[in-house]
Amino acid sequence: MVVHVFDTPAQVAQAAAAVIAAQILQKPDSVLGLATGSTPMDTYRELISLHRGGVLDFSRVKSYNLDEYVGLPDGHPESYVSFMKRNLFDHINIGSYSLPDGRARDLQRECESYEQAIKDDGGIDMQLLGIGNNGHIGFNEPGEAFTYSTNLTTLAQSTIDANKRFFDSIDQVPRQALSMGIGTIMEARSILLLALGEAKAQAVYQMIRGPITPRLPASILRSHARVTVMLDKAAAARL
Ligand code: GLP
Repeated sequence: MVVHVFDTPAQVAQAAAAVIAAQILQKPDSVLGLATGSTPMDTYRELISLHRGGVLDFSRVKSYNLDEYVGLPDGHPESYVSFMKRNLFDHINIGSYSLPDGRARDLQRECESYEQAIKDDGGIDMQLLGIGNNGHIGFNEPGEAFTYSTNLTTLAQSTIDANKRFFDSIDQVPRQALSMGIGTIMEARSILLLALGEAKAQAVYQMIRGPITPRLPASILRSHARVTVMLDKAAAARL
């Protein structure tokens, strides 16, 4: 794990965009794994500005998102597909993008076909990740075992509490999601994890210094050969 600590969230965003830009410049037909959440938003803004400046061409890039809520109505502003369009895809010339379909009738089958689509595209070259306050990645919540492939998951209460800020009331936060598995994430050729703010400091500390355990899902990343972690000072406070 290569760990960078920057003074400000803006620097994290610039550094993250630089790494993603380098990936695309070196392999214009890269398959990216993308993430939602407040953490990568400024990174996406930097990528949009590189695209607008004529530096980055996304036309041959394919992307697969980590996760999607189950059951939100089509076009709901807080669905992850809406988030990704608003914050990135509507502003760049992305070749293609996919998210798991949380409205699929057969969710198990949707998980299998999502996993297969990633494989058919040759696997993920670079996976961008945030981290939950409880150490989750994607929606792989703390538990007794690491998940393997894309799966239907039940959100932890702490995740529902953390995500309620995006909804009118806590009752509207979906209880379930489809998420790439820990195995899917670990198969990515490289991983870039970002964390900002003091609310992440404990999870970041446990990810880097604690035991590798499914109780802190992000800790498994220590056994991946190519992981870069970018933190602001607040998220790195306990290291
Ligand atoms: C969400 C997402 C994760 C994200 C995390 C942190 O629930 N499923 O992919 O990394 O929580 O979100 P934020 O960046 O808003 O803190």
